[in-house]
Amino acid sequence: MLNRLPTAEPDPLWDLTKAFQQDERPEKLDLVVGVYRDASGQTPVMKAVQEAEAALAVAAASKVYRGLSGNLDFIDGLARFVLGDDSPTLARQCTIQTVAGTGALRLLADFIFKLSPDATVWTTDPAYVNHLPLMTGAGLKVRTFPWQEREDGQGGLNLQTVMTALQEAQPGDVLLLHGCCHNPTGIDPSLEDWKMLSALCQEKKLIPFIDIAYQGFGDGVDLDAAGLRLMAAENELMLASMSCSKNMGLYCERTGGAMVVTPDARLLGQLRHTLERIARSNYSMPPDHGAAVAARLFENPQSWLQELEENRERVASVRALLGAELRAIDAPEKFHCLERQKGMFSLLPLRPEQMDRLRSEFAIYGTAGGRINVAGLTPERISSLAQALKAV
Ligand SMILES: Cc1ncc(COP(=O)(O)O)c(C=O)c1O
Repeated sequence: MLNRLPTAEPDPLWDLTKAFQQDERPEKLDLVVGVYRDASGQTPVMKAVQEAEAALAVAAASKVYRGLSGNLDFIDGLARFVLGDDSPTLARQCTIQTVAGTGALRLLADFIFKLSPDATVWTTDPAYVNHLPLMTGAGLKVRTFPWQEREDGQGGLNLQTVMTALQEAQPGDVLLLHGCCHNPTGIDPSLEDWKMLSALCQEKKLIPFIDIAYQGFGDGVDLDAAGLRLMAAENELMLASMSCSKNMGLYCERTGGAMVVTPDARLLGQLRHTLERIARSNYSMPPDHGAAVAARLFENPQSWLQELEENRERVASVRALLGAELRAIDAPEKFHCLERQKGMFSLLPLRPEQMDRLRSEFAIYGTAGGRINVAGLTPERISSLAQALKAV
């Protein structure tokens, strides 16, 4: 068996992280790792999470197994958070707790393969780095469509190139979109764009699959879910993968959910059964701690939502300050996109060798493909990043 062991291929992201750790320059700046950082460069546990954890420790509930769908208060709160408290869609959806957003993506990929093995999943180019392996790992075929800014310099998605490429999609294919804060480009569709994408799904009988991992980091928790909510309202069938890693800072607690919206509420029991069977043959039950914390936050959301809003505003202000700095030093116009894009990530319009120069000459680490985590910038480093971008 072991003679078939694949050779270990280097993981470019971990190699960069290692290189960053070994870099002895005091001014080094990590814009690679995709976690939120505060103005001092830290990723602290949110206060609302600390309070929920303290309350859970006092309650000291038993650690007996939970059900296959996970924590029921959590999945109810998550579905309400994503769809909206008074959404009619709540009555025709089934949500199951998963091992974070990644687990939800894989569970739904397995679900698609089980019911529709010939379906092609259409994903954005560039894509979130794990979308392709998660979908192909489940046995699905994957094709891409371009995800880029409009050429008029006003920002926003170039919907025309999306629509043209998707003309080749076949009925029953799956359209995998990011709910908000597209990773890695930070380019989000407008509500008008979402309407066109939803109309395309209905016309060509495509199944929308919305991956929402950053709700609350773009324009606010409700606006960030507006596209997903529209898709759910206008399409009979919709899939959604949801993550509490970023908006609750529960990264290592692996907390998320997978949702299926059905045209026929009578199918809800069968749907839950099918999703639970997929989970059972994989990891059986998801871990409870993060979900128990999240359930408390959903139940009493004020302080959590306030903290999330502060984090969102910090990312937006970093983008605005960086944009102002780039304009002040007369940096090339191509960098103005950084100000317009949403959420933690942007894709720098730089070639790999220019990203290498950023690292070797300025100790600024982004991925070779040009992705940077804007949340990794501290206020005092904004000006040096702007200077370095202009220089390379
Ligand atoms: C677009 C997207 N989807 C899903 C995930 C999965 O996140 P997690 O598994 O940590 O919840 C991420 C994380 O970076 C992401 O960027």
